[in-house]
Amino acid sequence: MNRLGTLMGAAMLATTAGAAIGQTDPLAPIGQWSIDARGSAPVPPMGWNSWNAFNSDIDETKLLASATALVTTGLAAKGYRYVDIDDGWWLKRRMPDGRLIIRAANFPSAATPDGATSFRPLTDRLHAMGLKAGIYSDIGRNTCGQAYTSNFANQPQGRIDEREVGLYGHVDQDIALFMGAWGFDLLKVDGCGIRAMTPANPHVESGDYRALGPLIDYDTLPDTDIAGVRKLYEAVAVAMARTRPAHDYVFSLCLWGGADVRSWARFVGQMSRTSQDISPDWERMLHNFDSAVRRELYAHPGSWNDPDMLYIGTGAFTADHPVEARTHLTLWAMLSAPLMIGYDLRKLTPALLDILGNRAIIALDQDPAGNQAVLAFDSDTVQILVKTLADGDKAVAIVNRTAAPADAVLTARHMKLRPDTDIALTDLWSGTISHFRDEQPLHLAGHETRVFRVRGVAARAQGLYLSEQTGRVNPAVDGIVEPEADPLVHRGVLPWRSTRGDGEHPAYGGWGGARADSTPYGQALKLHGMPLANGIGVLANSRIEVKNAGYRRFSAQVGIDDSARDRRMPVRFAVYGDGRLLKRTEPVPYGAVPVAIDADVTGVAIIELVARGAADPRYPDPVAWGEAALDR
Ligand code: GLA
Repeated sequence: MNRLGTLMGAAMLATTAGAAIGQTDPLAPIGQWSIDARGSAPVPPMGWNSWNAFNSDIDETKLLASATALVTTGLAAKGYRYVDIDDGWWLKRRMPDGRLIIRAANFPSAATPDGATSFRPLTDRLHAMGLKAGIYSDIGRNTCGQAYTSNFANQPQGRIDEREVGLYGHVDQDIALFMGAWGFDLLKVDGCGIRAMTPANPHVESGDYRALGPLIDYDTLPDTDIAGVRKLYEAVAVAMARTRPAHDYVFSLCLWGGADVRSWARFVGQMSRTSQDISPDWERMLHNFDSAVRRELYAHPGSWNDPDMLYIGTGAFTADHPVEARTHLTLWAMLSAPLMIGYDLRKLTPALLDILGNRAIIALDQDPAGNQAVLAFDSDTVQILVKTLADGDKAVAIVNRTAAPADAVLTARHMKLRPDTDIALTDLWSGTISHFRDEQPLHLAGHETRVFRVRGVAARAQGLYLSEQTGRVNPAVDGIVEPEADPLVHRGVLPWRSTRGDGEHPAYGGWGGARADSTPYGQALKLHGMPLANGIGVLANSRIEVKNAGYRRFSAQVGIDDSARDRRMPVRFAVYGDGRLLKRTEPVPYGAVPVAIDADVTGVAIIELVARGAADPRYPDPVAWGEAALDR
């Protein structure tokens, strides 16, 4: 398809995929892959961002020091290329023409004789260093710093309208400036301006800022205008594609998992925050990890889950805590998360450089297959994550969430490898190579993550289970009727409120989303009393797109999962190839013997798996595409 075709396809899909705005039959096959293709992030973006290092107290000297360090330490050559300016860069919005003015006192190269200011000299300089440049805005009229921390350094100045530096009402103008005139390669768009500027906000009451919405009620998803929020972000995506027809940019959504962004971010931009802000504490890092780890089917080449920036170098992740620092990086790599360093690189030590620059771990993150790891074992103490790599190797991480030492047994089955043949493990932090068959006991220090690259013989000789290729499986319509908060995310103390509140109730919609090797609600897959070790669990009334990498045969054992609660509505399962019906079952009632589906997919580019239940159920039942696999 040509560029225009891609663009039109993307624009059309943006309104039909996911929440199915105004579409007649959201389960009708479309014969296309609907992950956003307007921007470009074939692998997770890597780089540096000013926020965790400096908050809003930023200037050109600090920024260039870290940019220079990226180059001189070799981190840039290893992939850390984006240098992102976060909150704190603006002086004001000039009126009446609405042009954004940079705080030139802090960014001297931005000064121009006419006072208009420009970041072009800075982005030119970063580009000349082989780096990329990122900038920050907000979808509302005001930014997070204005909304929550009025004593921040570098607050925008001037009259009320001059302090409205966010995108609201200025999308085309600001995007043309950022991505056109100023030449940025990445734009992070926060959402505080549509969340915090309620009429009851003291800053609004006092007349400092104008009220807007709120469109997002962060704590109460049903009170959030999800479609309205999506529309605002979609308008930014459209403006970016128009300004940069070469599609050589990253659109980074920052809605902290709110506004049910999980269900639609991948149709709009290249990365999307799954939680509130990370802080340099062990528990908080786990919270952010948890917000993404069960969303393995919502990350793909082109659009990634973003559990927030790295905090390696600070707090619980300093060089004095190498175990925790290594775990932090390893977990982000297993999640295929963007790797954005949040540290003042002037202070970088060889020990920290060794951690951030570990080539083997970076390679896991940047693996071109783009499969986010799947949880092969899950508990409050030990978790085992497995990621299938492009060359057929596996990466496995065994995580000890607790401060006490822990024992674990890694099995061939966790990695979908044959137990009766040799399995080679390369420890990616020590480089040590070992071999085992069947089972391998492991000892973990407190907070330790052991991570290995693994070579063995695949249990599925002729192909791959779908759950081993999550980067090619997109639950375009996942069947969720009303978004609910995910109860499996570890509750934390909000660092900025301590225990004065009642702790943090994660408000991240997504409970019931499609899962690999699990039901949507975290149970083991089971049909007619038969446990299924492999498969995709999803709700009825869903449509899953699968990119076919040259396989000839699709097979699965399907049915309504034994864990279903409604149980009254039979479900019909259909397989399409490039929009054409290949196979369809009769309606399958609850409790039936699993129905085998076998379809010839030779030459098919996009397979679609549709599970259709009753027209309008209150709670669609979970169904299983059990043992779903593609074979040569
Ligand atoms: C929000 C974002 C952070 C950072 C700040 C800036 O809190 O989540 O990542 O950008 O705003 O004010």
